[in-house]
Amino acid sequence: MKKTTFIGPFSQILPMTHLKINGSIHDNDLPLIEDGGIVIRNGRIEKIGPYRNLKSELAGEEVTERVLEGSHVCLPGFIDAHTHICYGGSRARDYAMRNSGKSYLEIAREGGGIWDTVTQTRKTSEDELARGIVKRAKRHLKNGVTTIEVKSGYGLSVEEELKMLRAIGEASTLSAQDLIPTCLAAHICPKDFEGSSQEYLDTIMQELFPQIKEQDLCRRVDIFVEESAFTTEEAESYLRFAREMGFDLTIHADQFTTGGSQLAVKMGAISADHLEASTEKEIKLLAGSTVIATALPGASLGLGCAFTPARKILDAGGALAIASDHNPGSGPMGDLLTQAAILGAFEKLSNAEVLAGITFRAAAALNLEDRGALAIGSRADLAVFHTGHYNEILYNQGNLKPCMVWKNGQLVFDKHKI
Ligand code: NIG
Ligand code: FE
Repeated sequence: MKKTTFIGPFSQILPMTHLKINGSIHDNDLPLIEDGGIVIRNGRIEKIGPYRNLKSELAGEEVTERVLEGSHVCLPGFIDAHTHICYGGSRARDYAMRNSGKSYLEIAREGGGIWDTVTQTRKTSEDELARGIVKRAKRHLKNGVTTIEVKSGYGLSVEEELKMLRAIGEASTLSAQDLIPTCLAAHICPKDFEGSSQEYLDTIMQELFPQIKEQDLCRRVDIFVEESAFTTEEAESYLRFAREMGFDLTIHADQFTTGGSQLAVKMGAISADHLEASTEKEIKLLAGSTVIATALPGASLGLGCAFTPARKILDAGGALAIASDHNPGSGPMGDLLTQAAILGAFEKLSNAEVLAGITFRAAAALNLEDRGALAIGSRADLAVFHTGHYNEILYNQGNLKPCMVWKNGQLVFDKHKI
């Protein structure tokens, strides 16, 4: 039995279709459907266009109608292409220390930082981790986020990384959103590992990757390329191995020092994320490649440091996605819409560029073709705002929340009902 849902009329629908993946976008380039409607069948978009036309086309069919009163704007559900929301504990102490003058790296050296969260996460059961993810994902849902990438990387042993990936899988079944898992076993070399960084990576490649494949726990591999984590040489052989096993690649690149983005280009990674330290050289390299440059304004806000040079990346012809980097250390806020709006204000990004960064360009950063734009056949993932014009959304800098969120054609958040 095919189930059809018809939603509208929307004052504006921004389908985010027919836009280029690379380079700048003017607001005037945004396709806009005024007084529009959307027909959904089996969780996918079947038709999209003027409400009145669709209404007459559907005459006589069995349809569940959702008639909207007042002004509404509809966008594709947002995609948060980089988070670390699987963790135990809190790093509020780090935040206080940092704001009292200690640097991120100093805090890490003094026993705070990533290792602190590893210790807390190892003490947390798989079930509890899954519950934590579900709770955080729920908050993202209220911001219109319908797909969330979630990294491991606070387990840092074969068993603990497997535990994290299983918890992400479990949370995905309990969340309204799709959670896209990524293996970040190469976050840092764990302090308790007896051996070199290279030996740690060898263990991950030989012992963890085959189990991930066997159990189909994730399809993406990430590595933190940084002085405090792994060198480009270590990362290159690691990523080569991962690529040969069929994993998509992504890199935590150029956060404090450069090197990672160049490697991302060399290895044909899907995305290079962070890029706060990228210079003209890295920007040019990224722009000439197929790598999606993912800005993480939440990490800049959490650490109080420079934003990714998003304007320069777009002007050079790069593809810019924007993600929250929601994590207990550098990115505790986890509010994608607020952060994307703030990045837009500081970097002088058009609204079109910001919205592209959290929709179809974010989908490309995850190598997902079935979402991020409201095209025929795409997943019916929708973020609906109670306003007459899309400019209001970023203008309100995250304060205007969606009134409805749809995932795969199901109404999963309805502000009127809470
Ligand atoms: O993306 N830079 C490396 N990893 C995370 C931080 C994780 C943490 O501080 O716990 C990031 O910012
Ligand atoms: Fe990160």
